[in-house]
Amino acid sequence: MKIIAIANQKGGVGKTTTAVNLCACLAELGKRVLLVDLDPQANATTTMGMAPDPENNLYYPLVDGTPVEDQIRETHLERFYILPAALQLAGVEVVMAQKGNHHSRLREVLAPLGDLGQLDYVIMDSPPSLGILMTSALSTADDLLVPVQCEFFGIQALAGIYQEVLGSMQEAGLAHARMEGIILTMYDGRTRLARSVIEEVRTHFPEQTYKTIIPRTVRLGEAPSHGNTIIEYDPSEVGAFAYRALADEFLQRRREYRIT
Ligand SMILES: Nc1ncnc2c1ncn2[C@@H]1O[C@H](COP(=O)(O)OP(=O)(O)O)[C@@H](O)[C@H]1O
Ligand SMILES: [Mg+2]
Repeated sequence: MKIIAIANQKGGVGKTTTAVNLCACLAELGKRVLLVDLDPQANATTTMGMAPDPENNLYYPLVDGTPVEDQIRETHLERFYILPAALQLAGVEVVMAQKGNHHSRLREVLAPLGDLGQLDYVIMDSPPSLGILMTSALSTADDLLVPVQCEFFGIQALAGIYQEVLGSMQEAGLAHARMEGIILTMYDGRTRLARSVIEEVRTHFPEQTYKTIIPRTVRLGEAPSHGNTIIEYDPSEVGAFAYRALADEFLQRRREYRIT
């Protein structure tokens, strides 16, 4: 079981879209995946067609030690499980800060899942803030995936998470994640700026930057409002092809080519 954090302190860069669709495409390729929704806004939960439920989210495992297995739900897709979020999860920030063990807590909570040996990947969708939930994701993950919007501020956000956030956590011994991948999102081929952002990211991070680029498409934006992933909502659309290619590349980079 590998734990992957999808994180970027900037909002609206495609974290949730990438988390949900990467999980769906990995499940389609035969992997057993758990999507952990760490964002109190519960966008990933809603995208999977579930209403946020105050009784069913990560709050209890994190705060009072409820077994994490009790909070996991099946989704409508085979091999795709979810640990949902709800607004209540925002309260974790306060409670965990008081307890002082916040950097290791999420890792402890997820550890029993590794012992069960039934999951291939745990993919965490992080909130767009530099709070405890996001830093917990970084200190729990084996790998960090950073979605970067193909826009000017995209590069600034990438530098921020790489240097200030991950770098300082690693220095303090609080994170062992490697920045495994950078995923360029919301690409609009008509703009020269988008192309120059890609070039700059690839120049600075030649190893980490995924070859697959996620285009900006109307259908990718619409799918969440239908409680669906792109491979169900419009399987023949370019966005679906892009996320399938991303899942392929994700597995190839881990030398785990598809088993189906
Ligand atoms: N490639 C894309 N093309 C078009 N719309 C997108 C794309 N990726 C995400 N969106 C839309 O942009 C908004 C922000 O994306 P989201 O994945 O929620 O970002 P984050 O989780 O980083 O805040 C959402 O409304 C989402 O549906
Ligand atoms: Mg999000």
